[in-house]
Amino acid sequence: MADSRPIAIITGATSGIGAAYGDKLASQGYDLVLTGRRMDVLSQRAHDLELKHHVNIYTEYLELGDEASLDDFINKYKDNPRISFLVNNAGYGNRKRFLDDNIDRQLEMVDVHNKSVAKIVHAFYPTLNKQESASLVNVSSMMGFYALPGTSMYSATKAFLILFTKAVALENTNPHLRIQVLCPGLTRTDFHINAPLADKNMKNRFIVRWMKPDQVVKISWKALRRGQIQCIPGFFNKLTVLLLKLVPDGLFNWIAKKIV
Ligand SMILES: NC(=O)c1ccc[n+]([C@@H]2O[C@H](COP(=O)([O-])OP(=O)(O)OC[C@H]3O[C@@H](n4cnc5c(N)ncnc54)[C@H](OP(=O)(O)O)[C@@H]3O)[C@@H](O)[C@H]2O)c1
Repeated sequence: MADSRPIAIITGATSGIGAAYGDKLASQGYDLVLTGRRMDVLSQRAHDLELKHHVNIYTEYLELGDEASLDDFINKYKDNPRISFLVNNAGYGNRKRFLDDNIDRQLEMVDVHNKSVAKIVHAFYPTLNKQESASLVNVSSMMGFYALPGTSMYSATKAFLILFTKAVALENTNPHLRIQVLCPGLTRTDFHINAPLADKNMKNRFIVRWMKPDQVVKISWKALRRGQIQCIPGFFNKLTVLLLKLVPDGLFNWIAKKIV
């Protein structure tokens, strides 16, 4: 890593939002460290991005549920003085309802969505803090605002990311380090193919509107420039969050139990 370009780290960059963030950051002249587990897909993506944007891309196999591998990854990169952008994006959807599932498998989501992010943020903050300009994005979800049957761990871990990121952003006193929690709504990615409880049709219905990963990233990017801490991409997603805040809890729970 001898170049002088800034480096962006993106976890879960194999597909979807992480891959779109990779494209955006490479187009802005960042070298990239991309993590994932489908290494054949990740290597091909890295190769394509190098050809398209003429930057250096490094790929790392990283299972975020494996603490020893996570620690190795953190120790390898945390003091690299070129790291100036970090996207904690990796995540997955519920495979089973909480009460029907094995508890260890359910708790794995806490490790992947929360414990790993907290460790990464804590470890990389000193390096990000030293940069003339740096950014940290934690990818949560609109589901972090709601509890529905079948989303126990997903909603709870995403809610953690919203509050955690907001509080860290408030603790941060460096105006050159922008911190954002990104809360996408439905986005057409592999997420919905891999999560059995998700909607595989990915079709628009009423105010249910699907976005493309590059649209999500474009909005996140603009919000970062504005210094916005919480970013809900898309008009319909913002509207949904706003309208559902007005619905009394009891009514929301009654409807949720009926329709999900
Ligand atoms: N798609 C949506 O509708 C939506 C909505 C709101 C929020 N989000 C959030 O957006 C983020 C990105 O998801 P996406 O929609 O872009 O889905 P995606 O295309 O399935 O990408 C998920 C990425 O996370 C990685 N990943 C999953 N589990 C992992 C683990 N245990 N350890 C390490 N890496 C892991 C995957 O790696 P491999 O594929 O290489 O295994 C992949 O690179 C997630 O945090 C998700 O919760 C998605």
